[in-house]
Parts: sequence; structure tokens; C-alpha cells
Amino acid sequence: MNQNVGWLVVGLLVGSCALSQAEVGTSKETYSTAEGCGVEREVRMEWWREARFGMFVHWGLYSIPAGEWNGRKWKNGGVEWIQKKANIPAEEYEKTLVPQFEPKPGFAEEWAETAKLAGCRYLVFTSKHHEGFSMHDSKVTTFDAKDACGRDIFKEVVDATHAEGLKFGAYHSVIDWHHPQAYAGFGLPTIKGVTNEGRDNSVYVDYLHRQVEEIMSGYGPIDIVWWDFSKPDCQGESWRAEELIAMVRKYQPQILMNDRLFATKHGFMSKKESPLKGWNPNRGDFTTPEQHIPDTGAEGVDWETCMTMNTTWGYNQHDHKWKTSEKLIRNLVNVVSKGGNYLLNIGPMADGTIPQESIERMKVIGQWMDVNGEAIYGTTASRFKKPQWGRYTSKSDRFYAHVFQWPEDREIVVDAQNLEVSRAYLLADKEQDLQINQTPQGLVIHVPKNAPDKIASVIAIECKIAD
Ligand code: GLC
Repeated sequence: MNQNVGWLVVGLLVGSCALSQAEVGTSKETYSTAEGCGVEREVRMEWWREARFGMFVHWGLYSIPAGEWNGRKWKNGGVEWIQKKANIPAEEYEKTLVPQFEPKPGFAEEWAETAKLAGCRYLVFTSKHHEGFSMHDSKVTTFDAKDACGRDIFKEVVDATHAEGLKFGAYHSVIDWHHPQAYAGFGLPTIKGVTNEGRDNSVYVDYLHRQVEEIMSGYGPIDIVWWDFSKPDCQGESWRAEELIAMVRKYQPQILMNDRLFATKHGFMSKKESPLKGWNPNRGDFTTPEQHIPDTGAEGVDWETCMTMNTTWGYNQHDHKWKTSEKLIRNLVNVVSKGGNYLLNIGPMADGTIPQESIERMKVIGQWMDVNGEAIYGTTASRFKKPQWGRYTSKSDRFYAHVFQWPEDREIVVDAQNLEVSRAYLLADKEQDLQINQTPQGLVIHVPKNAPDKIASVIAIECKIAD
């Protein structure tokens, strides 16, 4: 890397792998994710750091009731939890919903095309959510897509995703509200009336391992496993994490995984907490702030904000609180400007159709990415202070000013000295050099009267930074 370039590069080598084996709750400090530390981890992380933008898909039996059960409606919040919200016994849930599970042909191609069109570089799909319904063809249960509709839904999604040239991730819930031996409670959400009496959780954990093994061994390359979720008294060895991680790595040596086999606050923390507090790279390759964007990123930490487009992960016919395209694009920029990835969720309807509101937003994001993608992909956090007018992202020989508030005086001020700038130009008009002046206030860039993009206009600034 150019010695003169002083950008803060997020995601440097992750220090020593040799943490102590001290027990923490039901977890140890060191897990076999550590085998991927150092150079090997750096190599595995390369595509993910380059990608910056992914599409999350929550889709399961819960997409059928779509936020309504026996006349009761939920207007917002995660309705993939409807089984818990409405306290539906596993048997009733299965009997009611499985016969209605009828994915339309070609739905997976539509998802992958939508992700591609929006500029996503990866897609993460729920192989199993908390309800316990498996999308892959599982030999250890009949509560799976193959038995329900005669199709291996997981395979359809993996193949369609890879066919679009995108990386594929499997979200896999370690919680299971359907398996008769899985502990309820134990720090985890229960369905009313379910007790652990007579249950042998180890039988469920065997089942969990078998299903993960089916997924890891039967579908070609799986690029991410996105575990969900743990609590302090149910984590790590409660899932036999050491063995589970080792098995996953055996089949998929290149795989990346998040750290939700462990009770991390990052997933559920309040906005005030840093996503990095207590982050342990031995417990996962990246950490996952949920539904919010941390105030700052941090050097050496790989993180991914996952976020819904309205307020729910699974489809909810009653949730109309859609974020605007402007909000979503600025969120993406904001996340990337701090060195993170943005995993944006869609919740397809019962037959796999993506809600029109989501399609429209993904299209707008895609149009923006067509012009400005180079200011997102492969960029890192900027060392500059967050400007009033927008955000910065950075590469080794240039940085990008993402302007949210276009200046009436037609001047963008970059609060930095000693920049050796060779050129500045709008990504929307690459041929036209913008006039620049180095002033005591910083670098002043003179811009046209009208913003080329009302949401975020991007100026590329090619430069060297003097030491
Ligand atoms: C939470 C929720 C879950 C959702 C996930 C996404 O863990 O339980 O419904 O899938 O967050 O991050």
C-alpha cells in the first residue's frame, strides 16, 4: 500500500489467535473460528470487505399468515415471530401452514435478479428460522420444504444466487420452536405452555448438527453461515459450538460466519452501545449490529448492520412503515463510510413474490449504484471527520465525498489539509473536472448549481495524502 496514504483501513490483521481458554458462561474464549485468523482470515474476508452490500431474505411458513392470526393483527415488529407472538403450539402451526406452502416457480431467480439489480454482492437466506421449518431437503425431519411441496427450496435459492454471480449465505436459527426435544426458555423465547420437562436438549443439538451438516455438504459452496441467536445462559457450548464450527469449516474451509453462536450484545444492543464492545474475533468473522448503524466503526473490526425495509423481517401485510429509498441509500453510505457492510432485508410474500414496495426501492438503489457503485465497493472507512453535508468513503488512491445536502453556494469544503489532489469529478459526470482550491479551511471543491442526484451525489477526489 502506498506509504503516503493515511486512510484508516478497517479490518487489519486480527492480532493473536492464542486467547486463553477461560470459560465465560457456557462459552470458552477460543473457538475454531480462530483457525481462520491471520492471513487465512484476511483471504477469506476479501470478497466480503469488497462487497459492502448484501440482501437478506426472511421467508418461511410465517410469510403465509403475514402478520395476522385468528383475526389478530400485528402492525409492526418481526412477524416471523408470529408463532411466539400468538402462542401457537408447534403442532397447530405445522398443521395450519404446511398445506399452504406453495412457492411459485421461478421465485428464487426473481430474488437473485432483484439483489443483482440493486447492486448487492451477496444474498443471505433463512435456511431455517426459529419456527424450525427447513428449506433444504432434510433427511432428519419431515418438517421441511421437500416434504411440504416436493421441492428443495434451499437448493433453488443457492443455485439462483450463484447463477447471478452473487455469494450465498445461509441464515440458520439455532433456536427451534418445533423440535420436541429443544429446550424452550433457558434464556430463549418460549411458546406459552411449553416446558422443558422430559426434554433432552442434546437430542435437539444432535439434530441441529445433522441439519447444518446436510446444508454444508450437499449444496456446493456456501459462502456465509449467519447464525441466530444466543443468550448469556444459552450460547457456545449449549450448541456444541466448537464441534459445530469445526464441522462447518471442514466442508466449507472458505466460509465466513457471524458471531451469534455466542451471546453478543452487538445484535441487540441499544443504539448507544458500541458494536465493538466485547467483540471477540475468535467467535466469528464479523459481528452484526441489528436495525441500527453504530456511531463509529472501529479499526480491526468487521461488522455488518442488518436492517429491515419496513419494521419486520418476515412479510407483514399490515406493516406500511416503509423507509424511503433516500433513507436506504444514505444508510448504505453511512454504514460503508464507517467501514461496515449493509445487509438489507426483504420479506417475500407467501408464494415467494417480493412486495412491490421492496422491488421499487431495490430498483432505485440499483440505479444509484450503477452510477456510484465504485464509491461503495471495496471502499473503507474514511479518516476524515464526518462532514455536515454527507459522508466520505475511501480507497488507497482516492476518496469519495457523498453529498447529501447540496450547497447553495456551490462549494463543498473538505476539512483536510496537505492533500495532494490530482483531480476531482462527479461520478455522474466523469469527464468534467471540478475546480478545486486548497484554502486554510480545507479543500474547496466548486460544484455545479444542481445536484446530479438528490439523494447522494458523489465526488471522486484522486489524491495523495502528504504525511
Ligand atoms: C433477530 C430476530 C429474528 C431476525 C434476526 C435478524 O434475531 O429473532 O427474527 O431474523 O434478528 O437479525
